[in-house]
Amino acid sequence: MTKLIVKGGVPLKGTVKISGAKNSSLPIIAASLLSDGINIIEDVPDLEDVKVMCDVLEALGASIEKDKGTLKINSKNISEHEAPYDLVRKMRASFLVMGPLLARRGKAKISMPGGCAIGTRPIDLHLKGFSALGAEIIFGHGYIEASAPKLKGAKIYLDFPSVGATENILMAASLAEGKTVIENAAEEPEIVDLANCLNAMGAKIRGAGTDIIKVEGVKELRNVCHSVIPDRIEAGTFMVAAAITQGDVFIENVLPDHIKPVSAKLKEAGVFVREEQKGVHVRADDRPKSVDIKTLPYPGFPTDLQAPMMALMTLAEGTSVIIETVFENRFMHVDELKRMGANIKIQGRTAVVEGKPYLSGAPVKATDLRAGAALVLAGLAAEGITYVDNVYHIDRGYERFEEKLNSLGADITRAD
Ligand code: UD1
Repeated sequence: MTKLIVKGGVPLKGTVKISGAKNSSLPIIAASLLSDGINIIEDVPDLEDVKVMCDVLEALGASIEKDKGTLKINSKNISEHEAPYDLVRKMRASFLVMGPLLARRGKAKISMPGGCAIGTRPIDLHLKGFSALGAEIIFGHGYIEASAPKLKGAKIYLDFPSVGATENILMAASLAEGKTVIENAAEEPEIVDLANCLNAMGAKIRGAGTDIIKVEGVKELRNVCHSVIPDRIEAGTFMVAAAITQGDVFIENVLPDHIKPVSAKLKEAGVFVREEQKGVHVRADDRPKSVDIKTLPYPGFPTDLQAPMMALMTLAEGTSVIIETVFENRFMHVDELKRMGANIKIQGRTAVVEGKPYLSGAPVKATDLRAGAALVLAGLAAEGITYVDNVYHIDRGYERFEEKLNSLGADITRAD
């Protein structure tokens, strides 16, 4: 197993550039199945999850050329409608090809999704949406099969503003007959990015970024060249990295609106945060003050930054209460942080973190993507050496993570 060996105690200093957003790239790559030709997607990060999504598209018959951050996806010969278990089990977001396949081919067969084990993560809302659009859905042998000769627009109310369900339904509805209205839709910036990309392909989507999205179905979509937005979660992770090491970092390629919930919490914790035209400047001279955090759908505090923020709070002055409302099992990093000396108690979806003056390096394991990043950040601030195991989780979602941190003065090496 590959490990990251993190030597703690160096305040991060310098400038770092944020990559394109993983969570925008994945649905936008899936959306390229909706047109019959070559789509160009720019600023795509080089990540394991992106590779898996490309593999899924290739298994469906697409051909893909990669040149640094640019993907050229040719979806002319989509001959298959089945996304196989071996690929889908690697990444839950592979399920995002179901909407485009249904819309384009009238049928889709997808293995039940896998991905980070941060809760039961059902897909009922995606399926509810497809059923409302007229698809027939059958389960069997670990697969979900959906078919609809022609999708028909419908009014769909989501019980929870699921990001993936909103994206999947949005893609399917773009080629449905008539009008679709998604109520209680997710409002994440990645939804807006997908809608902008679909609209550039000729879709008629209004209201993306609000909780009501209206889609007027069109007969076909054309090819597009689209650049994905910067990754707000990667940006937030580097902001916390600057704060936890009491460093001074300028984080480039950030859309300040997208990181407001993180900026607000860091400022409340006494960290200097200044949003500038080209990015955000984060500096900390002392231990942070404790703050309470409740994760919520956008524009609330992102669940993806709960673990990094908890790492910061383990070193705060005072006690902080962290409530996870989005996923029911997203505290697996707690036991690992405790191995480093953190004082955390969990009661259901609430963690009570009593800040301490220092953590000590220890062998720990990444239990999911963001938990892995949080442990690296904790290791950067700890006394001694931290060995972070199961690095593949981190590689799924952070482009050149240790290289970027090392460029700011960190001392991280990778070893088998
Ligand atoms: C996306 C992000 C992930 C982020 C999450 C929440 C991608 C590739 N991943 O994941 O990084 O942590 O949003 O911001 O964009 N749910 C249901 N039924 C469904 C779908 C979801 O009950 O059909 C529940 C989930 O179990 C979870 C909550 O809704 O408790 C949020 O899930 P969702 O917004 O769908 O997250 P993802 O799209 O999987």
